[in-house]
Amino acid sequence: MTVTSTTSILKVDPSAPNPADIQHAADLIRNGDLVAFPTETVYGLGANAFNADAVAKIYLAKGRPATDPVIVHVASAAMLAEVAASLPSLAHPLIERFWPGPLTLVLPRGKRIPPNVSAGLPTVAVRMPSHPVALALIAAAGVPIAAPSANLFARTSPTTALHVMESLGGRIPLILDGGSALVGVESTILDLSGDTPTILRFGGVPIEALEDLAPEMRIGVRQLADRDASRGAGTSGESDESGEKAMPAPGMLITHYAPRARLTLIGGDDGEIRRAMTRLVRDRIQAGEMIGLLLADEDRDVLLDFPDQSQIRCVMPGSLRDLDQVAHSLYAALHTLDGYGVVRIFTRVFPDEGIGRAINDRLIRAASGQVVR
Ligand code: TXA
Ligand code: MG
Repeated sequence: MTVTSTTSILKVDPSAPNPADIQHAADLIRNGDLVAFPTETVYGLGANAFNADAVAKIYLAKGRPATDPVIVHVASAAMLAEVAASLPSLAHPLIERFWPGPLTLVLPRGKRIPPNVSAGLPTVAVRMPSHPVALALIAAAGVPIAAPSANLFARTSPTTALHVMESLGGRIPLILDGGSALVGVESTILDLSGDTPTILRFGGVPIEALEDLAPEMRIGVRQLADRDASRGAGTSGESDESGEKAMPAPGMLITHYAPRARLTLIGGDDGEIRRAMTRLVRDRIQAGEMIGLLLADEDRDVLLDFPDQSQIRCVMPGSLRDLDQVAHSLYAALHTLDGYGVVRIFTRVFPDEGIGRAINDRLIRAASGQVVR
């Protein structure tokens, strides 16, 4: 266990970070220590990607199984050349268009990247983040930075420094606080190491934006439509184990991104969702539970069904017509509901397009794979 007695939070200007503060954090990275830092997607927990002992500290601090590989962050083309052994031709136009930004590419692993970065795989996942603090930190460290999301394993990802402090406080020496992460969900992962480009995770870059450059692309994750088609196989949902078998990406567990409260995800058309929500919430309130609701702005009338809201806490991350806003606020909404101490959260399936696919993917995993109606 990497127990550090105190965790400092260093506030940095997200658009123009103070070079001395960045250098302080970069020195820790170079010394083999961990630093949590903001990216445009979520906060990352960084270590020198060339140093196997430093990378091992990430797994310890997060309580993450060694079978779950981490993403390497670079700040330049020269650094990419030290991380990946080679670049498939499709990598060039994708990098040109989407870097820096929330697209992670899985590539053949270069010799300087120790096996524990990639859980022993011959590949490495790499991206160039667009957040100025992340770029400045990597450049000042002069080494690529291996960084998973800066939360305890399988829990809700952090989009603020406070979220990081709540889950990793006492376990790491430093958190760079660059404000709240803009995109709010993790990067899209595209595997370019095989014959067919394959999406391993929905994320900040919508797959619709990748289609013209990668028309052959395959979706290697189960989608909402697959889950709806498999409904009727019982209401108990799938187990972690069966979900895991359906996932080709290592570490993409079906139970993931989970708040402390149990989460129920409701599907259907808008009317069905709201009726089911009212029915399910009424049952739990009668059972005496404190309930959290994570609603779209358009669902707010559900609250009218509950004149006494003493057992309800509600957050609304945004409109069904502004999924970027919902993604930005999604994890913060889950953290907020957990902070209220609710025992159960009810939420809805969002429109399954663009960044909505990433929103639904995270909610499905937080709900252990079940969509109810
Ligand atoms: O937006 C993001 O990607 C954030 C920020 C910090 O950059 N990072 C992030 O890391 O989401 P993490 O550890 O929470 O997710 C990493 C996932 C792994 O669980 C695995 O599914 C996939 O990336 N991955 C990493 N290396 C891989 C590899 N060599 N092959 C296939 N999948 C890989
Ligand atoms: Mg994560």
